[in-house]
Amino acid sequence: MKTPLKLLLVAGARPNFMKLAPLVKAVQRRSPGQAPALSFQIVHTGQHYDAQMSQVFFDELGIPKPDYNLEAGSGSHAAQTAEIMKRFEPVCVEAKPDWVVVVGDVNSTMACTLVAVKMGVKVAHVEAGLRSFDRSMPEEINRLVTDAVADLLLTPSEDGNENLRREGVAESRIRLVGNVMIDSLVDHLKTAAQASTLEKLSLAKSGFIYVTLHRPSNVDNKESLTAIVRELSLVGAQWPVVFPIHPRTRKRMEEFGLAFATGAKIKLLDPVGYNDSVALTQHARCVLTDSGGLQEESTYFRTPCLTLRPNTERPVTITIGSNRLTTIGSLQRDLSETLSGPSRRGEIPPLWDGRAAERVVEALAQD
Ligand code: UD1
Repeated sequence: MKTPLKLLLVAGARPNFMKLAPLVKAVQRRSPGQAPALSFQIVHTGQHYDAQMSQVFFDELGIPKPDYNLEAGSGSHAAQTAEIMKRFEPVCVEAKPDWVVVVGDVNSTMACTLVAVKMGVKVAHVEAGLRSFDRSMPEEINRLVTDAVADLLLTPSEDGNENLRREGVAESRIRLVGNVMIDSLVDHLKTAAQASTLEKLSLAKSGFIYVTLHRPSNVDNKESLTAIVRELSLVGAQWPVVFPIHPRTRKRMEEFGLAFATGAKIKLLDPVGYNDSVALTQHARCVLTDSGGLQEESTYFRTPCLTLRPNTERPVTITIGSNRLTTIGSLQRDLSETLSGPSRRGEIPPLWDGRAAERVVEALAQD
């Protein structure tokens, strides 16, 4: 019997885990007789390591325990990327994969891609082709580098294909597969509903604003984070605001000595798990975020979303979905417009149908 084609599935940071889960399931669900046979192993780089940033997602998404945990941890971009590369190389030597599969745009994505291609191992990038055209974002550099050298570029939407073509990528390296993050969402609608998140937090459907903010451009700068805290305190005087706080943002608030106005209805939480976040996104009156994933998840639920960034690498969330860009200066106006507008808006983009991971796995099997 032929040995199965071996996939090494890589994840490292929180937004990777909901993209990894459907890939694992799609391999597991293939029928036993289907050729070629596929096997997989999981690598967790350890870029994120707190239980609430990592283990809770493995538990809730039913991801098997990683075969390799590199425990690379935090550091400057150079130190973190280098550490992941050093630790991933011996894994590639030992595991001898036919494909290294990376997802998203975090430092782990780029680091493992560089290691694998230089060893002559084929790399597939899931969520390829997205571009914010803003090179001050670390993720944009990770996307550009990964897509320049990976062998197979699996895109979530047509704009990804267009960006890659414009960069001169051969058509044969590109496959439009749809959005794997939405696979996880579709798979967890029931469990998220059973999580009773709204009851636990005493929130009414469409009666609160769900906020997540962690981008360095928003939170690492004192002036900007001070303005965000001031603006959220103002909104919180009118509306309940649920704000699960990312470790980076919490650190900076402490460092800059910032606190929300007393009396503001702001529920500051530790980072929440997957089911809670899905339920909050589904039932919020409005989402305010700088996360890539939440722009997409809001779009799926048609929940109005304001993205506190000058650009997005996910333009379909604006052209088709429920997303709009905002700035600190226009936030109050944009919020009041959104809160007095329809409670659901936009449409779900094509191929955001819960079956993207199946298409990824078939592309890998056939390439
Ligand atoms: C990373 C990704 C970003 C993604 C985000 C989601 C890159 C360049 N950035 O940003 O694209 O949107 O993850 O969360 O890869 N920390 C903890 N516990 C953890 C992890 C981090 O306390 O489990 C703290 C550390 O102080 C660390 C800081 O958060 O220095 C930032 O973590 P890091 O992985 O460098 O980047 P993120 O801001 O999380």
